[in-house]
Amino acid sequence: MTALTDPGELPEILRDLAVEAAGRAGRHALGKLHGPLEVDTKSSGSDFVTQVDRECEQLIVETILGERPDDEILGEEGTDRPGGSGVRWLIDPIDGTTNYVYGHPGWAVSVAAGIGDTIVAGAVADPMHAETFAAASGDGATCNGAIIRPTERTDLASSVLATGFGYEADRRTRQGEVLTDLLASVGNIRRVGAASTDLCWVACGRVDGYFEVGLSPWDYAAGALIGAEAGAVVSGLGRDEPSPSFVVAAGPRLHSALVTALLSVDAESRTSL
Ligand code: IPD
Repeated sequence: MTALTDPGELPEILRDLAVEAAGRAGRHALGKLHGPLEVDTKSSGSDFVTQVDRECEQLIVETILGERPDDEILGEEGTDRPGGSGVRWLIDPIDGTTNYVYGHPGWAVSVAAGIGDTIVAGAVADPMHAETFAAASGDGATCNGAIIRPTERTDLASSVLATGFGYEADRRTRQGEVLTDLLASVGNIRRVGAASTDLCWVACGRVDGYFEVGLSPWDYAAGALIGAEAGAVVSGLGRDEPSPSFVVAAGPRLHSALVTALLSVDAESRTSL
């Protein structure tokens, strides 16, 4: 007789499957890093996609469906598969494809699972640094199995913040203008090039905070849960939930100061499409 799954255990089961799927894709991408790469562009001339993105997405989908054939899956590279189980996966097979193409180490595989609209499990595999971040709702966040925490910084003026820029030139220009207005109020800025990594680095205290406009749900779903489960505050700007309009993440003692600073430079309306 097979034991029925306790619904309370489902987030942890989904997290473990996310770790397995992201790890498999990450190992594949690492093995293909030195090419040959077939590079195409998507929304703009700097928005790259490679055959390795597509192969990784396929591996992740196969891994998920091998265990859970009735789940819904949405992937950056085109997977849009309906399901009937109530579980929905959001996958970014290579977050930071530009970095991947250039051999810059800031790329990761991001796999998240939600029940209804609530993300309950996620994994971000960063094969270049041999790190896997993971979280399940109510069960904390880890890096390679060790519990992670954000920084306790309170002072925005000495904080190190990560951010990112979109692919569309006009919006990117306005993002730059907002950043210019913010720079004097913060300690310094980092731009890695993978939103999932930025969020995991808030979660583990490698930066104090992160903000970005214009992400897709697969960019931030896993990292936002990992950040929140680590003890960071992850939100929109003036909204409860992070969204494609705005994602702000920071340690619990810095988050409201960062939101206030972003509001004071009108960050959302100046960078909206
Ligand atoms: C991108 C990265 C980047 C962010 C962009 C995203 P992709 O994802 O996360 O850091 O600034 O907004 O689109 O396209 O490499 O999967």
